[in-house]
Amino acid sequence: MTTTQSEKSTSGGEVFAERLDEKLSRSIDLAKSSATFASIVNPDSSPDFVRWVLRNVLLEVFSYAPVVVEASYAAIGRLPKTSADVIRALTKFILEEIDHSELALRDYVAQGGSEACARGRRPSPESFTLASTCRALASEEDPICCLGFLYYLEAMGSRLAPIAHHALQRLNLDAQNDFISEPADVDDMHSRILRSLIVRTVDADASRNEPIEFGFDCMSAVYPLPVWAAAFERASRESHPG
Ligand SMILES: [Fe+2]
Repeated sequence: MTTTQSEKSTSGGEVFAERLDEKLSRSIDLAKSSATFASIVNPDSSPDFVRWVLRNVLLEVFSYAPVVVEASYAAIGRLPKTSADVIRALTKFILEEIDHSELALRDYVAQGGSEACARGRRPSPESFTLASTCRALASEEDPICCLGFLYYLEAMGSRLAPIAHHALQRLNLDAQNDFISEPADVDDMHSRILRSLIVRTVDADASRNEPIEFGFDCMSAVYPLPVWAAAFERASRESHPG
C-alpha cells in the first residue's frame, strides 16, 4: 500500500516536528522584538551603532560556536550504532559548521574588532552558559537530544539571518558580513535536514520525542535573548565610552 501525502503529514514524527515549529515561532517572535535585533533592522538606527551591535553579536558567536561543534561530536559519538544513518547525516552537517566561528571572527575583525582580544578573552557568562548547556546535554543526557538543540539553532538562524542580511544591505554593511550573508541558504538546508531526521527518528521510535524536545527546550532557555542582551550591552557601552 502506498503512503499518501496526507498520511505522511500526520505521522507521529511530523506532528512532533510541527509542535517544535510552533515553539520555534514563539522564540523567533521574542527574538525579533529584542533590542538587539530591532536595532539592526530599524531603518532609523545609525550605521555605526548597527556595526557595534553586529560585531558584538559576532563575538558571541565566536565564543560559543566551537563548543556547539565539540558537543555535537560528543553526542554523535554516544549515539547507538544502530542509528548509523542519523550518525552519518549529523556528522556531515557538523562538518559544514566547523568554520562558522572563524567566519564570525573574520567579520568581527572587519567591523573593527580585535582578533587578539577576541581570541584571548573569556566568553561572556551568557555564551559560557549556552556552551555549557550543549556540553551537558551532549555528555550527560540521551545523545539524541542534540537533534533538538541543533534544530533550534539552525532553524532560528535560517529564519532571522535573511532579515538581518537585508538590513545590512540597506546600510552597505553586507559586504563585510559573510557569516550572516553566506550561511543563510546553508542554514535553511541544514534546518530542513535536521527536521527530517527528527521526523524519521520519532516515526521509528515515538519515545525519542522526549529527549529531542528536552534539547530543544534547553537551547531555547539560553539562546538567543541572554546572549544577544550581553552583546547589546557591550555595544551600548562602546557607543558611549566613559
Ligand atoms: Fe548551519
